[in-house]
Amino acid sequence: MIKKVYDVKKSKEIIILKLGGGLITDKNKPFSLREEVIENSVHQIIRSKKKVIVIHGGGSFGHPTAQEYQINKGKDPSIANQIYGLTKTHDVMVKLNSIIIEKFLKQNVASLSIQTSSIFVKDSSKDLFSCNFEPIIRCLSLGIIPVIYGDIVFDLQGDFSILSGDKIILLLCQYLKEFFISKVIFAVEVEGIFIYNKDMDIIELAEEIKCSKLDSLPLANLDKKIDVTGGIKGKLDNIHSICKLGIPVQLINGKDEEKIYKCLINKEVKGTSITI
Ligand code: IPE
Repeated sequence: MIKKVYDVKKSKEIIILKLGGGLITDKNKPFSLREEVIENSVHQIIRSKKKVIVIHGGGSFGHPTAQEYQINKGKDPSIANQIYGLTKTHDVMVKLNSIIIEKFLKQNVASLSIQTSSIFVKDSSKDLFSCNFEPIIRCLSLGIIPVIYGDIVFDLQGDFSILSGDKIILLLCQYLKEFFISKVIFAVEVEGIFIYNKDMDIIELAEEIKCSKLDSLPLANLDKKIDVTGGIKGKLDNIHSICKLGIPVQLINGKDEEKIYKCLINKEVKGTSITI
């Protein structure tokens, strides 16, 4: 029996949830998975019965491969085997994505892989992306959970680059007008955003941040893990743009047993809330 997770006709409300690459994998060890975390996250999404678009990052799959072939530099014939590396980067992301899809299917829930590099195309001459949103919209209207991921992206100018999960979320928030996106949740491997409190000389969790203050945060969690898509700084830039669209953002620790579930059903959880 296929489980019906949400009522497709009930509302236009959707929540976008990102499972960070650093949550679902261990970014310090290439190709390491956190299977239990993935399984538990999937379980919580199903339990919430919310209409969710799931996005996931590259973690220890996408980032080391993209870095090895310097995909984010764009086309560069001086980089050995770069075109092979481009396809390899996509392939490792497909493998990671299929593990997540399998977890949904194992629980008899319909979920579908949406291949980023097939629906998004960049035009760097205009600094624009075009996207065929139709597969995502169709999934949602059929009660399927779409699962999208950070991936390589082709450029109309003959080039290519990486499209991060965070940027995909921003593009969905900007252009998916058929739905009301009530919030964006980033499930990560830490409690949220940590800042340096100068007066007390301590590092503390920022539980609430006003969108307008995002640019001037005294950030404390600037880690040095491999990240080809801008790390925490890149994440905050995207979050800033999402909030400017009037959509609240929450960062929570996805390793916690129940936080994803609670956050999806709007229960209070400890983390970082970015308010409009
Ligand atoms: C990166 O996506 C995708 C590739 C490197 C191919 P993200 O930038 O969203 O990944 P995480 O969440 O930081 O790992």
